[in-house]
Amino acid sequence: MSDYSHSVEERVDAPKEGIPLSDYTVVRNDIPLKKQWSERKCTMSSCYNKYFDRMINFKSKEDDLWIVTMPKCGTTWMQETAWLVQSDFDFDKAKSIPLTERSPFVELEGLYEGMPPTFDAAENLQSPRLLKSHLPASLLPKELWQNRSKIIYVARNVKDAVVSFQPFLEALATFKGTKEQFIQAFMNDDLYYCPFWPHILEFWEMRHEKNVYFTSYERMKKDLKGVLKDLCEFVGKPIPSEEILNQAVDHLSFDSMKKSSAGKAMQAVIDGIKDLNNNNDSNFQFMRRGIVGSHKDELTADQIKSLDSWSEKFLNEAGVTSEEVFGL
Ligand code: A3P
Repeated sequence: MSDYSHSVEERVDAPKEGIPLSDYTVVRNDIPLKKQWSERKCTMSSCYNKYFDRMINFKSKEDDLWIVTMPKCGTTWMQETAWLVQSDFDFDKAKSIPLTERSPFVELEGLYEGMPPTFDAAENLQSPRLLKSHLPASLLPKELWQNRSKIIYVARNVKDAVVSFQPFLEALATFKGTKEQFIQAFMNDDLYYCPFWPHILEFWEMRHEKNVYFTSYERMKKDLKGVLKDLCEFVGKPIPSEEILNQAVDHLSFDSMKKSSAGKAMQAVIDGIKDLNNNNDSNFQFMRRGIVGSHKDELTADQIKSLDSWSEKFLNEAGVTSEEVFGL
């Protein structure tokens, strides 16, 4: 099989409610991590099949900056953070242009029927571009890896990601069921972009690559100023004054982002998908809680135990602890 040929398997064990899901695999040898990529599955909607080639062949530019994450790991927060760094802390522009325009979610168009033309938006964005994707390393554009465009990867502890993911997928009418069923579906890789751990651990293993900056939601909560300084260095920008850094931390706080163009733009995307699906059940708030440890009062002790023992297998295999990965 030549590079970039892909195969798609219809999933038979996907949740019965919601859109049909498929497993995507691809053969490739341009990712700086040795792995049997042809065996690396990723769950996506069946409608993504029409967009697979468009993403793999997406014309990447050397000065592109990508934000790559599993959903609900702090993507939007990092987009706003990285945009400020990339745009010399232009707070006025950040407030006046929706984040979805400043930093398009490239493959959104391929997730559901009826989405806006996000590939065109990404292609037409003025350089240097800030692009968002939830795809794993194996499904990202070939030129991104060949050009070694910069990638910011944000990880989040699995239990908080799970409790954030369920109301989100319910709002998108992609999942309906109990928390127990959701956790099972998550661990069975039956949800968008799963499996969760390989997504994170592949980038963890590539964290020393010159074009990869790996961080976590937890580190952003603990030391946002430190992350901002790291990003300035990563992107090749001077570290700004303490006053500008303080202004950035304030701009990026949960409360200000809830009211800003960033939080509102994401809420509008979700509300649009809810309308498309006539989903009036959910009262989903994109800016939901914004804390570390939300699982503690949202999961039972048994649910925590089963996610922990499931996670242990992946962490042991990779020889790392969750403290190392997330900086908890
Ligand atoms: P919760 O659902 O736990 O509140 P993503 O952008 O990847 O979809 O991630 C969404 C999660 O990031 C949500 O988590 C959301 O509240 C949180 N988030 C967004 N902006 C934030 C901010 N400025 N500070 C802290 N958390 C933020």
